[in-house]
Amino acid sequence: MALTASGEWRKLLELKNHRETFHLADLPARELCAEAAGILLDLSRQRLDDEVLAALIRLLEARGFHEARAALWRGDAVNHTEGRAALHMLLRADQGDAVGTMDAREFAFRERERMRAVAEEIRSARRFEHVVHVGIGGSHLGPALAVDVLEHAMPDTSGPEVHSASNTDPAALMRLMRRLPRERTLLVLVSKSFTTRETSLIGDALLDWLSAGRERAAVLREQVIAVSANTEAMNAAGIPAGRQLLMSDWAGGRFSLWSPVGISVALRFGWEAFAQLLEGARAMDRHFLEAPLDANLPVLLALAGIWNINFLDARSHAVLPYAEALAQLPAYLQQLEMESNGKSVDRDGRAVDYRTAPVIWGGVGMNGQHAFFQQLHQGTDLTSMDFIVAADRGSELPQLGDCLAANVLAQAEALMRGRDETRARSEDGDDPLRAWRLFPGNRPSSMIVPARLDAFHLGALLAMYEHKVFTQSVVWNVNPFDQFGVELGKSIAKRIEPLLQGAATDGVDAITQRLIARLKR
Ligand code: F6P
Repeated sequence: MALTASGEWRKLLELKNHRETFHLADLPARELCAEAAGILLDLSRQRLDDEVLAALIRLLEARGFHEARAALWRGDAVNHTEGRAALHMLLRADQGDAVGTMDAREFAFRERERMRAVAEEIRSARRFEHVVHVGIGGSHLGPALAVDVLEHAMPDTSGPEVHSASNTDPAALMRLMRRLPRERTLLVLVSKSFTTRETSLIGDALLDWLSAGRERAAVLREQVIAVSANTEAMNAAGIPAGRQLLMSDWAGGRFSLWSPVGISVALRFGWEAFAQLLEGARAMDRHFLEAPLDANLPVLLALAGIWNINFLDARSHAVLPYAEALAQLPAYLQQLEMESNGKSVDRDGRAVDYRTAPVIWGGVGMNGQHAFFQQLHQGTDLTSMDFIVAADRGSELPQLGDCLAANVLAQAEALMRGRDETRARSEDGDDPLRAWRLFPGNRPSSMIVPARLDAFHLGALLAMYEHKVFTQSVVWNVNPFDQFGVELGKSIAKRIEPLLQGAATDGVDAITQRLIARLKR
């Protein structure tokens, strides 16, 4: 049955209508928390009560959640438009875990072992001081985030420093090439398809740079690692077989940090750190699979999102880490959530009549407080929020860590409670600026508290979001594992690129023609 016609959906609409005047400030103090894999999720500031939560769980079950999750774990072709499984959980599984088909398992464990051997060999040779990790989207965001988090958590690492090159911005690449010593730089080329134009252009430019005065074949042999599912293309590019690490078509780019895509993490911080990242994600996988739905972190996060988006009309969702280490998390989650569930056609090819993925955005919370929080507090649109703060912020500079914690708690409280006329009057008497000093409050937020920001907890945090996205896709009945929406622009860019190099622009859209004239070299 269509989602919006189902009894479970209509029940939720009814509950919403009965709660028109509901305000979070009126809620008695309550505890709506769950914990797993060292992460506390506190939903006490969501506009949910027990009755709504129970109705959301009934909706999820009625949408076939239990069977959908089982199919995901079995390795069925849940990515039905591309006829593929989605087995990112296998990338962090142990031999004894029941996930995926025999073939997939054999592939995953073999490639993990090869990746470990290559990473350890390179680290122990100590030739390289720098790694340039070339890749974009899922081939960039996860490794960049993980490297950043571990730079904060493991300052004493002995591995090569990791730099990212994802954007074909000549200035950015030139800046990198000016800084790095050729002889001591390793190139890690990551592209699942190995056909992404941006990645191959950057890879070629860096190879030319590394090859100055040397034989290209020697550079390919000694200073390059490639990670891809496309062996043929890696061969054609001249990458020696021993320097090729394989991905499979059953793990999507945005779910691939756990595969050899994450080799830069292992090169910089060592295999044990990478294994801890996998272990944290695996702990969250087990929790997602085994915990009851009303105590299941990814499920609760997903259902709070459904309530906010589909029933309370929240148009955007802000990710607000109170930790510099997680500065890249909003960008990572933008891809994970918006590329997965930013769809308007369901699994059966029908246009949906409900909202799916909202706009995901955000930034480091403390800095945001002095910038965009004004709109969160007093703007006209409702934005839901995830606040993220580590329980253990280290023993150094403790006052700074306390200031951080005080601020995240204060913001969540202020956004929930607001400041109404009565309170303003009692606090400020006859304030001529009262109208501008009122806060509506009632802004829903989740507080996410990892025990600390290390490899294990980062793994658990990211896996939690992966499963949140999957759970929401089940309710919305969309395929979270394809991304046809990125293709149209890519094909037009392919047509436009030669025009910038002088090819005739006949037949090209007039606006584009005018801008080509302006942008031509
Ligand atoms: O254009 C989108 C996309 O296909 C993402 O899904 C993917 O993560 C990224 O491009 C990079 O793709 P590849 O790893 O094949 O270079």
